[in-house]
Amino acid sequence: MKTIKIGLLGMGNIGTGTYKTLEMNRKEVEATLGTKVEIVKILEKDVDRDRGIEVPMEKFTQDPDVIFNDPEIDIVIELLGGIEPASTFMLTAMKNGKHVVTANKAAVAANYHELMATAKENNIIFKFEASVGGGIPILGTLTGPLRANKFEEVMGILNGTTNYILHMMTKEGMDYDEALKDAQALGFAEADPTADVEGIDAANKLSILMALMFDHYVPPTEIPTTGITQITKEKIEEARSNKCKIKLIAHAKEEEDGSIFYEVRPMYISETHPLANINKEFNAVFVKGNAVDDLMFYGKGAGPLPTGSAVMGDVIEISKTILR
Ligand code: HSE
Repeated sequence: MKTIKIGLLGMGNIGTGTYKTLEMNRKEVEATLGTKVEIVKILEKDVDRDRGIEVPMEKFTQDPDVIFNDPEIDIVIELLGGIEPASTFMLTAMKNGKHVVTANKAAVAANYHELMATAKENNIIFKFEASVGGGIPILGTLTGPLRANKFEEVMGILNGTTNYILHMMTKEGMDYDEALKDAQALGFAEADPTADVEGIDAANKLSILMALMFDHYVPPTEIPTTGITQITKEKIEEARSNKCKIKLIAHAKEEEDGSIFYEVRPMYISETHPLANINKEFNAVFVKGNAVDDLMFYGKGAGPLPTGSAVMGDVIEISKTILR
């Protein structure tokens, strides 16, 4: 019986969450596929870190070519974060005939066309469900069950760290720095949280959503973006006195003339609006399609296990094709 063999690039928070998801639910994963699934090699320098899980030392390597050149590896999971070397590694894996899964929104948004084209040229499957909305299965839903729609609008809380900070400032009266430290400790924030608090991470995710929903790719650097660094307790109080909450919203909408409007910025949201009640690291994505009408998706948008769940979901989908 074939074993699906995986090479993992990066074992930080999300890599660890992915490894744990597979270990925790190995029975379910392998029963679904009727085969064994194994992470056989891990590109990671920090081999001694306490990950709260046993990882055999012989799995670690510091040479990415060990993974790219291993003919037995079917799928490469890229969880290094950042645009480079992650993008180059994914392209190399594809050119070596490996299917690729990533959670890396920065790399997918920056190099969307090249990654998609290289996957197609090399006849491999490229999946990135975990890159938007963490554990929420939004990309597969937009490109699968909802594909019969012409999409009109998307509005989302797409960054768990900033939503956590705004929630803690609004509900718990925490100050900004304290809430950010908390989000970092819980494994929500990027290695450099500037991408979270400046809205860049949400812009990366909006760029991916727009490419899939409107077939309209806009580099994230061209999306008008404002983060939450200027949000003070006074502004939160002012919103409260207007029966509103401040939320970092990523928004794109098709205008009547067919052009697409897009932006990421903190907005006043009425306390009665469903998006106002998305708390902590939860994300929500509101979508309007011309046939299905309004839909809203809700779930944990950050964190090792919710993201690991989405990564492993992609691995299972690819494995089904490999085993066909
Ligand atoms: N830093 C990101 C967030 C991680 O806080 O949402 C999930 O993409």
